[in-house]
Amino acid sequence: MIYSFYIKVYGCQMNDYDGKRIEDILILNGFFKVNDPLTADIVIFYTCNIREKAVHKLESTVGMIKSPKIKVIAVGGCVAQAEKDNIFKRIPRVNLSFGPSTYHKLPEYLDDLLSGKKKRIIDLSNYKLEKFNSTNKRREITTSSYVAIQEGCDNFCTYCVVPYTRGREYSRPVIDIINEVKWLVNNGAKEIVLGGQNVNSYHGEAPYITIGSNRKTWRIEELIKAIAAIDGIKRLRYLTSHPKDFTVELMQVHNAVPILVPFVHIPVQSGSDRILKLMNRNHTAREYLDKLKLFRDICPAIQFSSDFIVGFPSETEEDFNDTLKLVEEAKYTLSFYFKYSIRPNTPAARMLEQIDDKIKEERLARLIKALLKDQIYYNNKLVGKIQEILITKKGKKENQYIGKNIYMQSVIINSDENIIDKFKTVLIESANENCVFGKLLD
Ligand code: 5AD
Ligand code: SF4
Repeated sequence: MIYSFYIKVYGCQMNDYDGKRIEDILILNGFFKVNDPLTADIVIFYTCNIREKAVHKLESTVGMIKSPKIKVIAVGGCVAQAEKDNIFKRIPRVNLSFGPSTYHKLPEYLDDLLSGKKKRIIDLSNYKLEKFNSTNKRREITTSSYVAIQEGCDNFCTYCVVPYTRGREYSRPVIDIINEVKWLVNNGAKEIVLGGQNVNSYHGEAPYITIGSNRKTWRIEELIKAIAAIDGIKRLRYLTSHPKDFTVELMQVHNAVPILVPFVHIPVQSGSDRILKLMNRNHTAREYLDKLKLFRDICPAIQFSSDFIVGFPSETEEDFNDTLKLVEEAKYTLSFYFKYSIRPNTPAARMLEQIDDKIKEERLARLIKALLKDQIYYNNKLVGKIQEILITKKGKKENQYIGKNIYMQSVIINSDENIIDKFKTVLIESANENCVFGKLLD
């Protein structure tokens, strides 16, 4: 019997990557994908719990799926990892729970459940190498392809669940990454995004030991140079970076490697030294700003994006003003901002002075205003420029398409033919704070 599956993926780019690998491995093992959960034998939720009340939402989503056809309801990813056995108590219809490092075993687990050999399965083990090596086959290659180079985090920022869900930092061996990139490029990928929670602390097994050095691992600088030497890559990016691990050598690689985009995501979270300390970020606001300045001196074309959290426990008006001051000096072209949300079992959840939601809302609005001021300034500077845009999706209006420029800014254009997944030459004609508008030139 051939079984159908439906998958819903929540969260970050790493989760999108995992979701695609799950689809690949299931289809290659004889399952087929459907787009409606009500027609599926197997329903998979691949989850994220970095913010918000993920389990509550999942409870109600599962509750809404009423279909006699369903034989397996699976919860995978970070919620599964965080909830452990509890997931079966909270959502009794779930009969398969798997963490972010066990999804390569899904065909085996699904067979056991569908054949009635087992009633319920949970696997939250940490099979990183095995997982990456058994899920590197892809059925579809996109022009922009994400390649995980590391997973997990050892930083333990006090607000964050990632070290507990994705586990300790694991770096894939250099040779595995290079082989995967070569294969992707040979099959049509043109932009490679090197991904992970903390890519600039990458320390993967070296493909060979350099003469005069007994170092057995490579850093991200060496990995980027080796990948850039592969023929056929048009653009190379990496994300996400931690400020404390950002080295001068990595800044210099931006000059040495022309296909490496001059755009880096370096989240700062707060501009207050007191809050940064409570967050366990291991740097001060000045140290961070000095790194941006040094980076601009080394590589004048570089632009930055960041993440911010407002309303961290005990954040005062003065602390928040320090964040606004940092924004003014840092000059970001793009940013992501969040109200602090309590994550169970993290140190910040136990901090006593939690901030009222009204104050968080009000600070978030002020922060957005400050960030958008810079965003519109940079977007306006693009007007009149010709840029290579990778078209990623259809826009809301007819014949409208949306792409990304090298600074990950959204570019909106019109076209009579389907140009999704293609690089196009575009003249930027106008801008607002969230995107720019352009005209196709080829
Ligand atoms: N509350 C709000 N935002 C958070 N982030 C991580 N944990 C939390 C939390 N508990 C944000 C950080 C991080 C981004 C991926 O998500 O800004 O950089
Ligand atoms: Fe979370 Fe901090 Fe690690 Fe980023 S660096 S994943 S915010 S613990």
